[in-house]
Amino acid sequence: MLFKQQVLLRQKLFVLGSLAIGSLLYLATRVGSLDRSQPICPIEGQSGSHLPEQIPLRTLQFKRGLLHELRKGNATTEQIRLHNLVQQLPQAIIIGVRKGGTRALLEMLNLHPAMVKASQEVHFFDNDPNYAKGIEWYRGKMPFSHPHQITIEKSPAYFITEEVPERIFKMNSSIKLLLIVREPTTRAISDYTQVLEGKERKNKTYYKFEKLAIDPNTCEVNTKYKAVRTSIYTKHLEKWLKYFPVEQFHIVDGDRLITDPLPELQLVEQFLNLPPRISQFNLYFNATRGFYCLRFNIVFNKCLAGSKGRIHPDVDPSVVTKLRKFFHPFNQKFYQIIGRTFNWP
Ligand code: A3P
Repeated sequence: MLFKQQVLLRQKLFVLGSLAIGSLLYLATRVGSLDRSQPICPIEGQSGSHLPEQIPLRTLQFKRGLLHELRKGNATTEQIRLHNLVQQLPQAIIIGVRKGGTRALLEMLNLHPAMVKASQEVHFFDNDPNYAKGIEWYRGKMPFSHPHQITIEKSPAYFITEEVPERIFKMNSSIKLLLIVREPTTRAISDYTQVLEGKERKNKTYYKFEKLAIDPNTCEVNTKYKAVRTSIYTKHLEKWLKYFPVEQFHIVDGDRLITDPLPELQLVEQFLNLPPRISQFNLYFNATRGFYCLRFNIVFNKCLAGSKGRIHPDVDPSVVTKLRKFFHPFNQKFYQIIGRTFNWP
C-alpha cells in the first residue's frame, strides 16, 4: 500500500516537474523571440527608410544555429541560398571614437533584429594593405544577413585617420555614420589605461599619464600626445565634414551609454529609421561588473569582456583641471557643429 502511494507520488512529481521544465523552456524561447517574431515595419512618416514593410525574421534559433555554423564556416552554399543570405557592405559604420564605448554600442545595437554586426574590427579604410585588397575583400569580412537587414561594423581608428572619410565616401556617399564620444579627459585617461595595460602585460614599464599629457618644458598640455589629440573631437569631425553633411552623423553620448543605455540606443534606432525593438528587458545592470550587460532572453545573457571597463589610475587633479580647461573651447565648437551639448566640464 505504502509502496503504491510512493509510486503514485513519484509519478505526480514527475508529471509536475516535466510541466514546469516544459513551461520554462517555452518561456525561454518565447521571451527571447518576442521581438524577433513580430514583423519589422518602418516607422510611419519617416522618410528615407530603406526597410521594407516586413523583413525576414532573425529568430534566436536561427541566430544561434545557422549563423553560428556560418561563422565557423560549416554551412553549405545550399543552406546560404535557401535562407536567402548575403554578405552586404555596411549601411552604417561606428567610426569611433576609440574608448568612447564603441564595443558596447555595437553589441547593444546587435540586439535589434534588423541589425547584424561584423564581430571583429575590420580596419579596411584605415589600413593601407587592407584597403589595397579591394571592396570585395571588405564584403567578405561582413556577416551573412538577410537582404533587408542593416550590416554594421566598427573600427574606432576610422575617426582619426586622414584618408578614411574620402574612402568611405567613395564606397557609399549616403552611408550612416555613428560616432560615440565621452568626456574628453576621461577618454584620454581610458586610452592611456589601455596602452598601460598592454605594456604591463609585456612586463614593460611606462610613463605616468601626467608626464605624457603635460609638456615638461612649457607645462602646457602636450598636443603631440595621441591620447590628447584624439579627444579634440572637433578637429577630426571637421575633416569628415568635407565629405559628408552633418545630418549623416549621429553622435552617441558614451557617458550616458554607461549609466543609462536605453535612451541612447533609442536615438540610434530613430537615426537608422528602425522601429524601436531594443527594450529595457534586453539590458540589465550587473553590480559585479559595474556596467549594463545584454540579455537576449531569459536564458542567454552576456557582459562585455573584462578589457572593457578598466579601473583608471589616479591622475593628479591639477592635470585633470588643466586638460579640461584645454578641451573646453574645442568642446564648445563640437557642440555647435553637432547641435547637441553634453555635460562636460
Ligand atoms: P573604460 O575601460 O575606460 O571604462 P571601446 O569599446 O570604444 O574601447 O570603449 C571602452 C569603454 O566602453 C570602457 O572604457 C567602458 O567605460 C565603456 N562602456 C560603455 N558601456 C559599457 C558596458 N556596458 N560594459 C563595459 N564597458 C562599457
